[in-house]
Amino acid sequence: MAKTKIAYFCQSCGFESAKWLGKCPSCQQWNTFVEEILEKPNASVPNWKASPSPTQRANKPVQVTDITFSEEHRLLTPDKEFNRVLGGGIVAGSLVLIGGEPGIGKSTLMLQLALNMPNIKVLYVSGEESDKQIKMRAERLAPQPAAGKAIGEGCFILTETSTQNIFKQIEELEPDLVVVDSIQTLHSAHIESTPGSVSQVRECTAELLRFAKESSTPVFLIGHITKDGMIAGPKILEHMVDTVLQFEGDRHHVYRILRTIKNRFGSASELGIYEMLGEGLREVSNPSEILLSQRDEPLSGITISATLEGMRPMLIETQALVSTSAYGTPQRTATGFDTKRMSMLLAVLEKRCGFKLGAKDVFLNITGGIRVEDPAIDLGLAAAIISSHEDIPIPFKTCFAGEIGLSGEIRAVNRVEQRIAEAQKLGFEQIFISKYNMPTAAKDKKRLDLSRYTINVIPVGRIEEVFGLLF
Ligand code: TYD
Ligand code: MG
Repeated sequence: MAKTKIAYFCQSCGFESAKWLGKCPSCQQWNTFVEEILEKPNASVPNWKASPSPTQRANKPVQVTDITFSEEHRLLTPDKEFNRVLGGGIVAGSLVLIGGEPGIGKSTLMLQLALNMPNIKVLYVSGEESDKQIKMRAERLAPQPAAGKAIGEGCFILTETSTQNIFKQIEELEPDLVVVDSIQTLHSAHIESTPGSVSQVRECTAELLRFAKESSTPVFLIGHITKDGMIAGPKILEHMVDTVLQFEGDRHHVYRILRTIKNRFGSASELGIYEMLGEGLREVSNPSEILLSQRDEPLSGITISATLEGMRPMLIETQALVSTSAYGTPQRTATGFDTKRMSMLLAVLEKRCGFKLGAKDVFLNITGGIRVEDPAIDLGLAAAIISSHEDIPIPFKTCFAGEIGLSGEIRAVNRVEQRIAEAQKLGFEQIFISKYNMPTAAKDKKRLDLSRYTINVIPVGRIEEVFGLLF
């Protein structure tokens, strides 16, 4: 009898080992190895067209000047935010992974896309829901107009989990775009282990990759993310696909962000913003306007920061609450912001500016349920903390953009012109920026020409200076 081939895989990073290990040498996690059966004896199941994979084909070296290619054909979707994160539309033959926590709206996003693609055939493969469930969702997403052409005519639904059967249907239907929901539910007959295991996920992705490249059909894969942000177990998936998009946001808020993590065909710092409504996702083309709450009186502890997410300027409201701690250990909580960075800011405010924050509870919140990584938000946060501590509101129509260094200096931020322009566009009257962002040489003056702006730009060098001007 032929022998069954087995291997042990780390379920966290996908590391493969011939024997069981207690600790993964790659990601240092304990107890993550699981036995998986790799190959069934005499598995004679047809593969995608049963052709040799591109790696098996004997290719000859070609001079780079001899390689010809026509201008990369990109398929534009009706969703502008989606085109933006892909770097300007869908590239033929690309394999795109869309990761996100369960319930964030990945299926909604992809189904909406499948329904709205004009004049092409889209195959939406689902291993998670029945066709009736999908139809119900589709009804909600694309209510049929009373007259005219129905939306979603080019969208075909297939509820299937076996890759071999999926390829059979693809050969018959010949779709222009394939969506798979989700990679964790697929299984290939070439591998014995259960769907969702490292070897299955890897094999199914490899088969879809081969299909995408050989047929030049773009394929979208939905992948669930585990709590710690890994695309369910295997990080290897990220290496195999061309583009990785992450769908994130707070489930209790309406805003969702689609972020590019990796992109072989465009910038990896793009970002799309959506609003989750009863009838599906709506693109948000001007994020600043919705992220700022409408207030008619200044309140203490609230500031606006001019941040940049990806290539996009965005004005974000930050709130702080500083109060005397009722218990021995003060509480420090930050929502949408790194807690370690908050501790650093508090230490700087205590040491450099003499504010006694050591025995205070400090709560920070970025409104809209989004997460900000741009360090330019530091200055705004520090101002919010002190505004709450002193109970003095920040003047109306003021915003901030500056990073705070350990010695209390305000450091320069990138693309300051874009931030100033956005603040001005939204009617702000003054913006605090780092003095190191101010033009010194003639060539800088050309780039940041302050005479172009009507907004009052206030350069500051140290954090004490800001408070001197504000309070
Ligand atoms: P879903 O796309 O099923 O999430 P995922 O595929 O990432 O697991 O989205 C589920 C959530 O979206 C669910 O909590 C309900 C909400 N939702 C809306 O608010 N409006 C809608 O039109 C739809 C379809 C879903
Ligand atoms: Mg889903």
